[in-house]
Amino acid sequence: MNHLLSMKQLGTDDILNMLRRAGELKRGSASGLPPGHTVSNLFFEPSTRTKTSFEMAERKLGLSVIPFESGFSSALKGETLYDTVKTLEAIGLDALVIRHPEDRYYEQLEGRTSVSIINGGDGSGQHPTQSLLDLYTLQEEFGGLEGLKVTIAGDVAHSRVAKSDRDALEKLGAEVRYLCPPEWRGDFEAADDWSDVLEDSDAVMLLRVQHERHGESGSFSAEAYHERYGLTEERAARMKEGTIIMHPAPVNRGVEIADSLVEDPRSRIFRQVENGMFVRMAVLETILKGRD
Ligand code: CP
Repeated sequence: MNHLLSMKQLGTDDILNMLRRAGELKRGSASGLPPGHTVSNLFFEPSTRTKTSFEMAERKLGLSVIPFESGFSSALKGETLYDTVKTLEAIGLDALVIRHPEDRYYEQLEGRTSVSIINGGDGSGQHPTQSLLDLYTLQEEFGGLEGLKVTIAGDVAHSRVAKSDRDALEKLGAEVRYLCPPEWRGDFEAADDWSDVLEDSDAVMLLRVQHERHGESGSFSAEAYHERYGLTEERAARMKEGTIIMHPAPVNRGVEIADSLVEDPRSRIFRQVENGMFVRMAVLETILKGRD
């Protein structure tokens, strides 16, 4: 595997191997990577988790991490993404983690660069390492994914997490259900009422409302949204025993999830973040080993 662009490119064995390796790394396995690889993280959209955990993963693997700040790069002078990547290729980088607001930005790079590209999120498209860490967290919790009932609730049409997780969870035999307002359904078949999906869910994953992708779409009431589509304390009380709460974050407390539930004993939100670093170590290791 030279690049990781989308969950669609991964077969079941690829996914399970990556999760297995992430588990070994979490349990303290040493990296088998020879020294000398150089990577950079190109984030053209804000990020707390993905950028920081990639950087931590890179340092733990002993990689040389070259700083890149999009706000101080020649992108501001009109340089295209393609020219930025070709420039970093010429300087000698091996791999680039890229987050970009444009859906499928990576298509302009495919077959045109020898640098390995890891997609850190493309617009409303895909977020493969988030999906892998979601799968890892579910597998760690339940021992496997086959037959799990996972409900993804929120702004699914604009969510790269919902799309990546749909592709992966269905491949691995989980049943994925969606809940969202009709205007944010996109091509998902989704419930409009928590009663249709809540009580038998093994995991309930909330999504942030992606205002930055809505354009001019009228008014939004956080209170009304929370009341109708949020995971409230009352709804959480109706979840069966053992159900876990997930969220890719950033969280808007009191909107898609009640403030008190973010750190509830059933919440795995910070566990997801923790697991993300090991999953990203496994991804980087797999891709860089493939280049040696
Ligand atoms: N889940 C996620 O991608 O978070 P960041 O936007 O903070 O990286």
